[in-house]
Amino acid sequence: MKLWLFFTLALLWLEVQNGVCQQVKRKKEADENRIRTGRKRVKVRYPKVKEKEAGSKGQSILTQVLDKARFLRLGESLSLNPGKTLELRCKGTNIGWAYPSYLDTFNDNRLSIKQHERYSQLILTLPSAADTGDYSCRVVLCDGEECAKDGESTSVTYIYFTDKDELFVPSAIHFEIIYLRPDKPATVPCRVTNPKIKVSLHREVPAEEIAVDGTQISYNPTKGFIIQNPSPEHKGAYYCKANSTTKITPQISTKYQLLYVEVPSGPPFATIEASSNTLSGGNIFNVTCTVLGEPEMNVSFSWRYPGQGQRPVNIHDSWRLINRGVGHTTRISQSVMIVDDVETIDYGKYICSTKNKHGETLVATMVKSHE
Ligand SMILES: *[C@@H]1O[C@H](CO)[C@@H](O)[C@H](O)[C@H]1NC(C)=O
Ligand SMILES: *[C@@H]1O[C@H](CO)[C@@H](O)[C@H](O)[C@H]1NC(C)=O
Ligand SMILES: *[C@@H]1O[C@H](CO)[C@@H](O)[C@H](O)[C@H]1NC(C)=O
Repeated sequence: MKLWLFFTLALLWLEVQNGVCQQVKRKKEADENRIRTGRKRVKVRYPKVKEKEAGSKGQSILTQVLDKARFLRLGESLSLNPGKTLELRCKGTNIGWAYPSYLDTFNDNRLSIKQHERYSQLILTLPSAADTGDYSCRVVLCDGEECAKDGESTSVTYIYFTDKDELFVPSAIHFEIIYLRPDKPATVPCRVTNPKIKVSLHREVPAEEIAVDGTQISYNPTKGFIIQNPSPEHKGAYYCKANSTTKITPQISTKYQLLYVEVPSGPPFATIEASSNTLSGGNIFNVTCTVLGEPEMNVSFSWRYPGQGQRPVNIHDSWRLINRGVGHTTRISQSVMIVDDVETIDYGKYICSTKNKHGETLVATMVKSHE
Protein backbone atom coordinates (compact mmCIF):
# COMPACT_ATOMS: atom_id res chain seq x y z
CA MET A 1 0.00 0.00 0.00
CA LYS A 2 1.23 3.47 -0.89
CA LEU A 3 2.25 5.39 2.20
CA TRP A 4 0.26 8.52 1.35
CA LEU A 5 -2.90 6.51 0.85
CA PHE A 6 -2.40 4.90 4.20
CA PHE A 7 -2.02 8.27 5.91
CA THR A 8 -5.00 9.76 4.15
CA LEU A 9 -7.25 6.92 5.10
CA ALA A 10 -5.88 6.93 8.63
CA LEU A 11 -6.61 10.65 8.83
CA LEU A 12 -10.09 10.12 7.45
CA TRP A 13 -10.64 7.35 9.94
CA LEU A 14 -9.67 9.66 12.81
CA GLU A 15 -12.08 12.27 11.52
CA VAL A 16 -14.86 9.70 11.35
CA GLN A 17 -14.13 8.67 14.92
CA ASN A 18 -14.24 12.23 16.16
CA GLY A 19 -17.53 12.90 14.41
CA VAL A 20 -17.20 15.02 11.35
CA CYS A 21 -20.60 16.57 11.61
CA GLN A 22 -20.18 19.66 13.58
CA GLN A 23 -23.20 21.82 13.11
CA VAL A 24 -22.50 24.90 11.06
CA LYS A 25 -23.13 27.98 13.06
CA ARG A 26 -26.22 29.84 12.15
CA LYS A 27 -26.98 33.41 12.88
CA LYS A 28 -30.29 34.49 14.22
CA GLU A 29 -30.00 38.21 14.26
CA ALA A 30 -33.63 39.15 14.26
CA ASP A 31 -33.10 42.87 14.06
CA GLU A 32 -30.70 42.71 11.20
CA ASN A 33 -33.05 40.38 9.36
CA ARG A 34 -35.82 42.88 9.50
CA ILE A 35 -33.65 45.45 7.80
CA ARG A 36 -32.50 42.91 5.22
CA THR A 37 -36.07 41.93 4.50
CA GLY A 38 -36.84 45.49 3.60
CA ARG A 39 -34.08 45.50 1.03
CA LYS A 40 -35.00 42.11 -0.31
CA ARG A 41 -38.27 43.08 -1.95
CA VAL A 42 -36.54 45.49 -4.22
CA LYS A 43 -34.06 42.82 -5.14
CA VAL A 44 -36.39 39.99 -6.10
CA ARG A 45 -38.52 42.07 -8.43
CA TYR A 46 -35.85 41.94 -11.07
CA PRO A 47 -34.55 38.39 -11.06
CA LYS A 48 -32.36 37.00 -13.75
CA VAL A 49 -35.03 35.07 -15.62
CA LYS A 50 -33.29 32.58 -17.75
CA GLU A 51 -34.99 29.22 -18.07
CA LYS A 52 -32.82 26.21 -17.42
CA GLU A 53 -34.50 22.84 -17.15
CA ALA A 54 -37.96 24.20 -17.52
CA GLY A 55 -41.27 22.38 -17.56
CA SER A 56 -42.94 20.85 -20.57
CA LYS A 57 -44.17 24.20 -21.88
CA GLY A 58 -40.69 25.68 -21.58
CA GLN A 59 -41.62 27.53 -18.40
CA SER A 60 -40.53 26.86 -14.87
CA ILE A 61 -43.21 25.36 -12.66
CA LEU A 62 -41.36 26.63 -9.60
CA THR A 63 -42.55 29.86 -8.02
CA GLN A 64 -41.57 31.86 -4.99
CA VAL A 65 -44.32 33.31 -2.82
CA LEU A 66 -43.40 36.95 -2.21
CA ASP A 67 -46.39 37.89 -0.12
CA LYS A 68 -50.17 37.49 -0.30
CA ALA A 69 -51.14 36.61 -3.86
CA ARG A 70 -47.81 37.67 -5.34
CA PHE A 71 -45.79 34.97 -7.00
CA LEU A 72 -42.51 35.04 -8.81
CA ARG A 73 -41.77 32.46 -11.45
CA LEU A 74 -38.20 31.39 -10.85
CA GLY A 75 -35.39 31.21 -13.36
CA GLU A 76 -31.95 29.71 -13.25
CA SER A 77 -30.83 31.54 -10.13
CA LEU A 78 -32.06 33.85 -7.43
CA SER A 79 -30.27 35.90 -4.77
CA LEU A 80 -31.99 36.43 -1.43
CA ASN A 81 -30.97 37.94 1.85
CA PRO A 82 -30.79 35.42 4.67
CA GLY A 83 -33.21 35.43 7.59
CA LYS A 84 -36.56 35.82 5.87
CA THR A 85 -38.63 32.66 5.52
CA LEU A 86 -38.48 31.20 2.04
CA GLU A 87 -41.67 29.82 0.55
CA LEU A 88 -41.66 27.98 -2.75
CA ARG A 89 -44.58 26.46 -4.56
CA CYS A 90 -44.94 24.03 -7.37
CA LYS A 91 -48.19 23.33 -9.18
CA GLY A 92 -49.30 19.71 -9.29
CA THR A 93 -51.05 17.02 -7.33
CA ASN A 94 -47.93 14.92 -6.79
CA ILE A 95 -44.71 16.89 -6.47
CA GLY A 96 -41.23 15.71 -5.52
CA TRP A 97 -38.66 18.19 -4.14
CA ALA A 98 -34.88 18.34 -4.02
CA TYR A 99 -32.88 20.77 -1.90
CA PRO A 100 -29.31 21.01 -0.50
CA SER A 101 -28.42 17.67 1.12
CA TYR A 102 -27.12 19.65 4.09
CA LEU A 103 -30.73 20.11 5.18
CA ASP A 104 -31.22 16.34 5.28
CA THR A 105 -27.90 15.60 6.91
CA PHE A 106 -28.80 17.67 9.93
CA ASN A 107 -32.44 16.61 9.81
CA ASP A 108 -33.29 20.26 9.92
CA ASN A 109 -36.70 21.13 11.33
CA ARG A 110 -36.58 24.55 9.66
CA LEU A 111 -37.65 22.78 6.46
CA SER A 112 -41.21 21.69 5.86
CA ILE A 113 -42.92 20.33 2.76
CA LYS A 114 -46.66 20.07 2.39
CA GLN A 115 -48.70 18.75 -0.53
CA HIS A 116 -51.96 20.64 -0.97
CA GLU A 117 -54.78 19.73 -3.33
CA ARG A 118 -53.41 21.66 -6.33
CA TYR A 119 -49.82 22.48 -5.38
CA SER A 120 -46.93 21.54 -3.11
CA GLN A 121 -45.34 24.01 -0.72
CA LEU A 122 -41.78 24.14 0.60
CA ILE A 123 -41.05 26.41 3.55
CA LEU A 124 -37.60 27.10 4.94
CA THR A 125 -37.49 29.28 8.02
CA LEU A 126 -34.44 31.32 9.02
CA PRO A 127 -32.43 30.51 5.89
CA SER A 128 -28.72 31.21 6.16
CA ALA A 129 -25.70 31.27 3.85
CA ALA A 130 -25.26 27.51 4.43
CA ASP A 131 -28.62 26.83 2.71
CA THR A 132 -27.30 28.17 -0.62
CA GLY A 133 -27.82 25.61 -3.37
CA ASP A 134 -30.18 23.99 -5.89
CA TYR A 135 -33.86 23.85 -5.08
CA SER A 136 -36.00 21.89 -7.47
CA CYS A 137 -39.40 20.33 -7.85
CA ARG A 138 -40.71 17.81 -10.29
CA VAL A 139 -44.12 16.61 -11.28
CA VAL A 140 -44.50 12.93 -10.65
CA LEU A 141 -47.30 11.61 -12.80
CA CYS A 142 -48.70 8.48 -11.39
CA ASP A 143 -50.89 5.88 -12.97
CA GLY A 144 -52.13 3.48 -10.35
CA GLU A 145 -49.15 2.37 -8.33
CA GLU A 146 -46.48 3.11 -10.90
CA CYS A 147 -45.01 6.54 -11.38
CA ALA A 148 -43.98 7.26 -14.94
CA LYS A 149 -40.43 8.54 -15.39
CA ASP A 150 -41.09 10.00 -18.85
CA GLY A 151 -43.95 12.12 -17.64
CA GLU A 152 -41.77 14.03 -15.23
CA SER A 153 -40.90 17.63 -15.66
CA THR A 154 -38.38 19.33 -13.43
CA SER A 155 -37.62 22.94 -12.54
CA VAL A 156 -34.36 23.85 -10.85
CA THR A 157 -33.34 27.17 -9.33
CA TYR A 158 -30.04 27.86 -7.62
CA ILE A 159 -30.72 30.09 -4.61
CA TYR A 160 -27.95 32.22 -3.12
CA PHE A 161 -28.48 33.38 0.45
CA THR A 162 -26.26 36.41 0.24
CA ASP A 163 -24.65 37.08 3.59
CA LYS A 164 -22.17 39.95 3.72
CA ASP A 165 -20.22 38.19 6.49
CA GLU A 166 -20.10 34.76 4.86
CA LEU A 167 -18.67 35.04 1.38
CA PHE A 168 -18.18 31.28 1.09
CA VAL A 169 -21.03 28.84 1.65
CA PRO A 170 -20.09 27.52 5.11
CA SER A 171 -19.01 23.91 5.16
CA ALA A 172 -19.54 21.40 7.95
CA ILE A 173 -16.05 20.10 7.25
CA HIS A 174 -13.03 22.21 8.16
CA PHE A 175 -10.59 20.21 6.10
CA GLU A 176 -11.77 18.51 2.96
CA ILE A 177 -10.12 15.78 0.93
CA ILE A 178 -10.61 15.93 -2.84
CA TYR A 179 -9.65 12.93 -4.95
CA LEU A 180 -8.11 13.67 -8.31
CA ARG A 181 -8.74 10.95 -10.85
CA PRO A 182 -7.16 10.86 -14.26
CA ASP A 183 -10.49 10.00 -15.91
CA LYS A 184 -12.76 12.79 -14.66
CA PRO A 185 -12.78 16.48 -13.75
CA ALA A 186 -12.22 17.39 -10.10
CA THR A 187 -13.96 20.17 -8.19
CA VAL A 188 -12.58 22.31 -5.38
CA PRO A 189 -16.01 23.11 -3.90
CA CYS A 190 -15.55 26.66 -2.62
CA ARG A 191 -18.99 27.96 -3.53
CA VAL A 192 -19.93 31.57 -2.82
CA THR A 193 -23.05 33.19 -1.41
CA ASN A 194 -23.15 35.85 -4.12
CA PRO A 195 -22.33 35.21 -7.80
CA LYS A 196 -20.62 38.62 -8.03
CA ILE A 197 -17.87 37.74 -5.56
CA LYS A 198 -14.39 37.45 -7.08
CA VAL A 199 -12.70 34.21 -6.12
CA SER A 200 -9.14 33.01 -6.60
CA LEU A 201 -7.52 29.62 -6.00
CA HIS A 202 -4.29 29.31 -4.01
CA ARG A 203 -1.79 26.57 -3.34
CA GLU A 204 -0.13 26.51 0.10
CA VAL A 205 3.28 25.05 -0.78
CA PRO A 206 4.76 26.56 -2.86
CA ALA A 207 2.58 29.57 -2.04
CA GLU A 208 1.07 30.68 -5.32
CA GLU A 209 -2.14 31.76 -6.96
CA ILE A 210 -3.37 29.29 -9.55
CA ALA A 211 -3.98 30.72 -13.00
CA VAL A 212 -7.59 30.29 -14.08
CA ASP A 213 -7.85 30.06 -17.85
CA GLY A 214 -11.55 29.23 -18.08
CA THR A 215 -10.99 25.91 -19.84
CA GLN A 216 -8.43 23.74 -18.03
CA ILE A 217 -9.28 25.43 -14.74
CA SER A 218 -12.51 27.39 -14.47
CA TYR A 219 -14.69 28.83 -11.75
CA ASN A 220 -18.42 28.31 -11.35
CA PRO A 221 -19.98 30.10 -8.33
CA THR A 222 -22.48 27.24 -7.87
CA LYS A 223 -19.80 24.52 -7.90
CA GLY A 224 -16.32 25.88 -7.25
CA PHE A 225 -13.07 25.55 -9.19
CA ILE A 226 -13.21 22.81 -11.79
CA ILE A 227 -9.98 21.12 -12.85
CA GLN A 228 -10.75 19.59 -16.22
CA ASN A 229 -7.88 17.10 -16.55
CA PRO A 230 -6.44 16.34 -13.11
CA SER A 231 -2.82 15.25 -13.05
CA PRO A 232 -0.29 14.46 -10.28
CA GLU A 233 1.03 18.05 -10.36
CA HIS A 234 -2.34 19.29 -9.07
CA LYS A 235 -2.00 17.49 -5.76
CA GLY A 236 -1.35 19.46 -2.58
CA ALA A 237 -3.08 21.73 -0.07
CA TYR A 238 -5.25 24.52 -1.46
CA TYR A 239 -7.64 27.20 -0.30
CA CYS A 240 -9.85 29.76 -2.01
CA LYS A 241 -9.82 33.49 -1.39
CA ALA A 242 -12.81 35.78 -1.88
CA ASN A 243 -12.66 39.53 -2.40
CA SER A 244 -15.51 41.42 -0.84
CA THR A 245 -16.63 44.77 -2.15
CA THR A 246 -17.55 45.92 1.34
CA LYS A 247 -14.57 44.58 3.28
CA ILE A 248 -10.88 45.37 3.03
CA THR A 249 -9.56 41.96 4.04
CA PRO A 250 -10.40 39.03 1.77
CA GLN A 251 -12.02 35.89 3.18
CA ILE A 252 -10.31 32.49 3.14
CA SER A 253 -12.21 29.25 2.56
CA THR A 254 -11.94 25.81 4.14
CA LYS A 255 -8.69 24.02 3.31
CA TYR A 256 -8.70 21.38 0.61
CA GLN A 257 -6.24 18.53 0.33
CA LEU A 258 -6.07 17.33 -3.25
CA LEU A 259 -4.91 13.75 -3.60
CA TYR A 260 -4.13 12.04 -6.81
CA VAL A 261 -5.60 8.56 -7.15
CA GLU A 262 -3.57 6.61 -9.64
CA VAL A 263 -5.53 3.42 -9.38
CA PRO A 264 -9.12 4.56 -9.13
CA SER A 265 -10.20 1.36 -7.41
CA GLY A 266 -8.47 -1.53 -5.75
CA PRO A 267 -8.84 -4.18 -3.05
CA PRO A 268 -10.34 -2.96 0.23
CA PHE A 269 -8.39 -0.70 2.59
CA ALA A 270 -8.96 -2.53 5.89
CA THR A 271 -8.01 -2.03 9.53
CA ILE A 272 -8.55 -4.32 12.49
CA GLU A 273 -8.78 -3.54 16.17
CA ALA A 274 -9.51 -5.63 19.26
CA SER A 275 -11.19 -3.97 22.23
CA SER A 276 -8.28 -5.42 24.20
CA ASN A 277 -5.26 -7.52 23.21
CA THR A 278 -4.54 -8.97 26.63
CA LEU A 279 -7.33 -10.83 28.37
CA SER A 280 -8.12 -12.97 31.36
CA GLY A 281 -10.42 -15.97 31.49
CA GLY A 282 -14.10 -15.02 31.67
CA ASN A 283 -13.63 -11.62 29.93
CA ILE A 284 -15.75 -10.41 27.05
CA PHE A 285 -14.06 -8.77 24.07
CA ASN A 286 -14.68 -7.82 20.49
CA VAL A 287 -12.67 -7.44 17.31
CA THR A 288 -13.71 -4.81 14.75
CA CYS A 289 -12.71 -4.98 11.11
CA THR A 290 -13.28 -1.74 9.19
CA VAL A 291 -13.13 -0.88 5.49
CA LEU A 292 -13.27 2.66 4.09
CA GLY A 293 -14.00 2.98 0.42
CA GLU A 294 -16.07 4.23 -2.46
CA PRO A 295 -19.79 4.63 -1.76
CA GLU A 296 -20.90 2.08 -4.34
CA MET A 297 -18.32 -0.53 -3.42
CA ASN A 298 -19.80 -3.30 -1.31
CA VAL A 299 -17.50 -5.38 0.80
CA SER A 300 -17.90 -8.88 2.20
CA PHE A 301 -16.20 -10.06 5.38
CA SER A 302 -15.11 -13.48 6.62
CA TRP A 303 -13.22 -14.46 9.77
CA ARG A 304 -10.61 -17.00 10.85
CA TYR A 305 -10.05 -17.27 14.59
CA PRO A 306 -8.58 -19.65 17.18
CA GLY A 307 -11.80 -21.19 18.45
CA GLN A 308 -13.29 -21.59 14.96
CA GLY A 309 -15.74 -24.48 14.76
CA GLN A 310 -15.46 -25.13 18.48
CA ARG A 311 -17.08 -22.19 20.17
CA PRO A 312 -19.97 -19.89 19.32
CA VAL A 313 -19.20 -16.23 18.51
CA ASN A 314 -21.36 -13.32 17.52
CA ILE A 315 -20.62 -11.60 14.20
CA HIS A 316 -22.39 -8.50 13.05
CA ASP A 317 -21.76 -6.87 9.64
CA SER A 318 -22.94 -3.38 8.76
CA TRP A 319 -22.21 -0.43 6.51
CA ARG A 320 -23.20 3.20 6.22
CA LEU A 321 -22.39 6.23 4.12
CA ILE A 322 -20.68 9.28 5.54
CA ASN A 323 -21.25 12.50 3.71
CA ARG A 324 -17.98 14.33 3.28
CA GLY A 325 -19.28 17.50 1.71
CA VAL A 326 -20.20 18.35 -1.85
CA GLY A 327 -19.46 15.50 -4.19
CA HIS A 328 -17.75 13.18 -1.78
CA THR A 329 -19.15 10.33 0.20
CA THR A 330 -17.28 7.53 1.88
CA ARG A 331 -18.67 4.12 2.64
CA ILE A 332 -17.69 2.64 5.97
CA SER A 333 -18.20 -1.13 6.21
CA GLN A 334 -17.65 -2.97 9.46
CA SER A 335 -17.71 -6.48 10.82
CA VAL A 336 -17.66 -6.91 14.59
CA MET A 337 -16.97 -10.24 16.27
CA ILE A 338 -17.93 -10.54 19.92
CA VAL A 339 -16.37 -13.26 22.05
CA ASP A 340 -18.03 -13.85 25.38
CA ASP A 341 -16.55 -15.66 28.40
CA VAL A 342 -12.93 -16.00 27.22
CA GLU A 343 -11.28 -19.42 27.53
CA THR A 344 -7.75 -20.67 26.74
CA ILE A 345 -8.95 -21.70 23.30
CA ASP A 346 -9.62 -18.04 22.38
CA TYR A 347 -6.03 -16.80 22.60
CA GLY A 348 -4.30 -16.42 19.27
CA LYS A 349 -4.66 -14.74 15.91
CA TYR A 350 -7.91 -13.19 14.65
CA ILE A 351 -7.86 -12.77 10.88
CA CYS A 352 -10.42 -10.69 9.01
CA SER A 353 -10.70 -11.21 5.28
CA THR A 354 -12.33 -8.40 3.30
CA LYS A 355 -13.32 -8.71 -0.33
CA ASN A 356 -14.62 -6.40 -3.00
CA LYS A 357 -14.83 -6.88 -6.76
CA HIS A 358 -11.16 -5.85 -7.16
CA GLY A 359 -9.63 -8.24 -4.67
CA GLU A 360 -9.07 -9.33 -1.12
CA THR A 361 -7.26 -7.82 1.88
CA LEU A 362 -6.38 -9.71 5.05
CA VAL A 363 -5.78 -7.99 8.38
CA ALA A 364 -4.97 -9.70 11.67
CA THR A 365 -4.57 -8.99 15.37
CA MET A 366 -3.22 -11.09 18.26
CA VAL A 367 -5.08 -11.70 21.48
CA LYS A 368 -2.96 -12.96 24.40
CA SER A 369 -3.50 -14.18 27.89
CA HIS A 370 -2.97 -11.64 30.65
CA GLU A 371 -0.95 -14.14 32.73
C1 LIG B 1 -8.55 40.85 -4.76
O1 LIG B 1 -8.07 42.12 -4.34
C2 LIG B 1 -6.63 42.22 -4.39
C3 LIG B 1 -6.25 43.56 -3.82
O2 LIG B 1 -7.12 44.56 -4.25
C4 LIG B 1 -6.16 42.05 -5.84
O3 LIG B 1 -4.75 42.11 -5.89
C5 LIG B 1 -6.63 40.68 -6.34
O4 LIG B 1 -6.27 40.51 -7.69
C6 LIG B 1 -8.13 40.54 -6.18
N1 LIG B 1 -8.50 39.19 -6.55
C7 LIG B 1 -9.49 38.91 -7.39
C8 LIG B 1 -9.76 37.47 -7.64
O5 LIG B 1 -10.14 39.78 -7.91
C1 LIG C 1 -16.46 -3.65 22.02
O1 LIG C 1 -15.80 -3.53 23.28
C2 LIG C 1 -15.68 -2.20 23.75
C3 LIG C 1 -14.84 -2.21 25.04
O2 LIG C 1 -15.30 -3.17 25.95
C4 LIG C 1 -17.06 -1.60 23.96
O3 LIG C 1 -16.97 -0.25 24.38
C5 LIG C 1 -17.84 -1.67 22.65
O4 LIG C 1 -19.16 -1.21 22.86
C6 LIG C 1 -17.89 -3.09 22.13
N1 LIG C 1 -18.53 -3.10 20.81
C7 LIG C 1 -19.50 -3.96 20.51
C8 LIG C 1 -20.08 -3.81 19.17
O5 LIG C 1 -19.89 -4.80 21.28
C1 LIG D 1 -22.41 -6.36 -4.13
O1 LIG D 1 -23.76 -6.03 -4.43
C2 LIG D 1 -24.21 -6.62 -5.63
C3 LIG D 1 -25.60 -6.08 -5.91
O2 LIG D 1 -26.32 -5.88 -4.72
C4 LIG D 1 -24.18 -8.16 -5.50
O3 LIG D 1 -24.61 -8.75 -6.69
C5 LIG D 1 -22.76 -8.60 -5.18
O4 LIG D 1 -22.71 -9.96 -4.95
C6 LIG D 1 -22.23 -7.87 -3.97
N1 LIG D 1 -20.82 -8.17 -3.79
C7 LIG D 1 -20.25 -8.43 -2.62
C8 LIG D 1 -18.77 -8.63 -2.62
O5 LIG D 1 -20.90 -8.49 -1.58
